[in-house]
Order: sequence, then C-alpha cells, then structure tokens
Amino acid sequence: MDELDRDPPAPPVGADAVAELVTIEQFLQDRRPEGASGDLTALLYDLALAGKLISNRTRRAGLTELMGASGVINPQGEEQKALDLYADDVVTSLLRRGGRVCAIVSEERPEPTIVDGTGTYVVVHDPLDGSSNIDSNVSIGTIFGIYPRLSDPDGPPDDGDWLRPGRDLVAAGYVLYGTSTVLVLSTGDGVHAFTLDPEVGEFVLTWADMHHPDTPAYYSFNHASSPLWDQGIGDFVAWLERPDTPQLSQRYIGSAVADFHRNLLHGGIYGYPAETGLPDGKLRMVYEGAPLAFLAEQAGGLGSDGHQPLLDVVPTTIHQRTPVFLGHRGLVERLQDMVDAAPGP
Ligand code: AHG
Ligand code: MN
Ligand code: MN
Repeated sequence: MDELDRDPPAPPVGADAVAELVTIEQFLQDRRPEGASGDLTALLYDLALAGKLISNRTRRAGLTELMGASGVINPQGEEQKALDLYADDVVTSLLRRGGRVCAIVSEERPEPTIVDGTGTYVVVHDPLDGSSNIDSNVSIGTIFGIYPRLSDPDGPPDDGDWLRPGRDLVAAGYVLYGTSTVLVLSTGDGVHAFTLDPEVGEFVLTWADMHHPDTPAYYSFNHASSPLWDQGIGDFVAWLERPDTPQLSQRYIGSAVADFHRNLLHGGIYGYPAETGLPDGKLRMVYEGAPLAFLAEQAGGLGSDGHQPLLDVVPTTIHQRTPVFLGHRGLVERLQDMVDAAPGP
C-alpha cells in the first residue's frame, strides 16, 4: 500500500484527555469578571502554590524532622508542630511578596501580620488543619478566606479589615492533603475542586459546581464528647440515630477540613459543638468557621453556630472560638431547631 493511502496515525494515548484538561489557571481566567484587576486571581495562584509546597513537604514529613512538635506554643495554648510552622511560613512569605494583601491573619500568630504597601486584600488562614493527625498519616489541610480591604489603602489596615462577617468574603477555600492533594475554592460562583497532578505539578479541574448531595450519608461529631454537649445537640444526634430517621453512618477524622470534604462529596453534617469546659467549642471563627461556611453555602448547604448562620457572626477577636455545624442545609436547620427548642442549660 502506498504511504499516502494509510489512515492517519492514531493520536497519542490520552491526547483527547489532555485537550479537555482545565488547569486552575485556565479556569480562573475564564471566569474572571470583566474589568477585574486580576489581583484576586493572582492571589489564588499564590495560595495554590503554597498548597503545592506544603503538599510536597507533607509527603516527606515522615522522612524528615517535620512530624514532631516544634516546642513552641501557639496563641491558642496548643503546641505547634514543625509542619504547622512550615505551612504558616510558606503562606505568609508567598502572600507578603505578592503586594496584593495588606494583612494576613493566621492561627499560628498572635496578631495580624501587616504587609507594607497598598495591597487591597486581607487573607485569613489556618495553615495546617488537623495537625494532631500528622504523625498518624491521616489527611490534613490548609483553610483560607479572602476579604477585600475596607480601610484606606494609603493608611495602615485596621481591625475593621478582618473582624467582619464571613458574608464579606470574596473567596474561600482549602487544600486537602489526602490520598491526593485537592484544592477546593469558591469566588462566590459555586464551589470547584482541582486535583494536583504530581507528575506535572498542576491543579486540574476535577469537580465543577459541587453541590451538597440531597441525601446525606454521614454525620461527623466527636461522639466521645457527647456527655459534655448541651441537650439540643444530644437530642439532634439521638434523632439521627433513631431507626425511623435518615440513618447516617458516623465518620469522624478529626481534621475539620477532611471531614468537611468527605461530607461535601457524599452528603452529611460535620459538627464541633460547645462542651462543658469549652463553652465556645474548639474551632476558630475567623479562619475555620467563616471560610468553611462560605463554601458550605456556595454548595447549597449551611454553616451555623447552632443558632444563626456563621457567615452573619461578627467576630470581636481574631482567635475567637465558636461552635461549628456545616453541611446539608436541611440537617443544619434541623439541628438549629432542636437547639432552640431544648431547655437552657
Ligand atoms: P487545628 O489542627 O488547626 O488546631 O484544628 C484541629 C481541629 C479540627 O480540625 C478538628 O475537627 C478538631 O480540631 C478535632 O478535635 P478533637 O480531637 O477534639 O475532636
Ligand atoms: Mn484547624
Ligand atoms: Mn491549624
């Protein structure tokens, strides 16, 4: 047969898949509102880069000195792990150099970090969530939220820039270091997830427009603390466990970000209530509660402190704690109803 009569060569395996690949860069460019400066997009790239660096270190933690305690106590009185400090350093350094932020609030720093210049955003973050799980090889994550600056860019930023309701967030997300590394984010038009392809070092779109499943599968509370809960929370969990109710499975990882992610994919509710001795629960409003509640609402769910949407709460201090309930809207609303109906303590 003549050379020219042959069928064209088959495309290399996977070429179609490559053509359909959407990187995080492409996705954000395509969805950038007309006239936007591009600063928010660039800020999100910086956070994605931080996620890659932390992911890389996380994968090596067992081989290096990074698993152990650092010997330093954080503003919450908890001992910091070496990886907490590394993650905090990476996020802070990357954001500082970009010139787009005026202040950074971190779980690991007692005060906001003020960045010189005229940056127009504030980033709040929990650099390493679930750090007690590091040495047992269980999923951990980085949580972030982004606020537009309110103060005059010609002067210093002030409390009003970060002590504000989560409703003011323009973006929030997390990077989950699990069996794969996944970046989940929202800029207020739905929730989208990107999985890190470690071979090429790119976050690739894997779920667009995520929505809390209508039929929940899991509830995630630390059941060992149930004797310490208020009656309304106990009533709600007892209701979940009754044979005539949805019959959810109980799953609890102890990394809020990983529990949240699983329930976002498979449906359910995550909760960290107040306890005797922990009147405001354990999680922090500014860099855990608000960003996760923003994502929950964007995915059709709800984040609550047990009485009201977390996004409506105005914090008075950066490390303030709050009870947190996140996930399936109907379940979170039911929990609120049962809390409100229960007799006071
Ligand atoms: P962090 O590691 O940032 O301090 O957060 C840990 C939090 C949260 O991620 C998790 O759900 C909770 O602590 C687990 O606490 P318990 O071990 O008390 O259940
Ligand atoms: Mn945390
Ligand atoms: Mn943390």
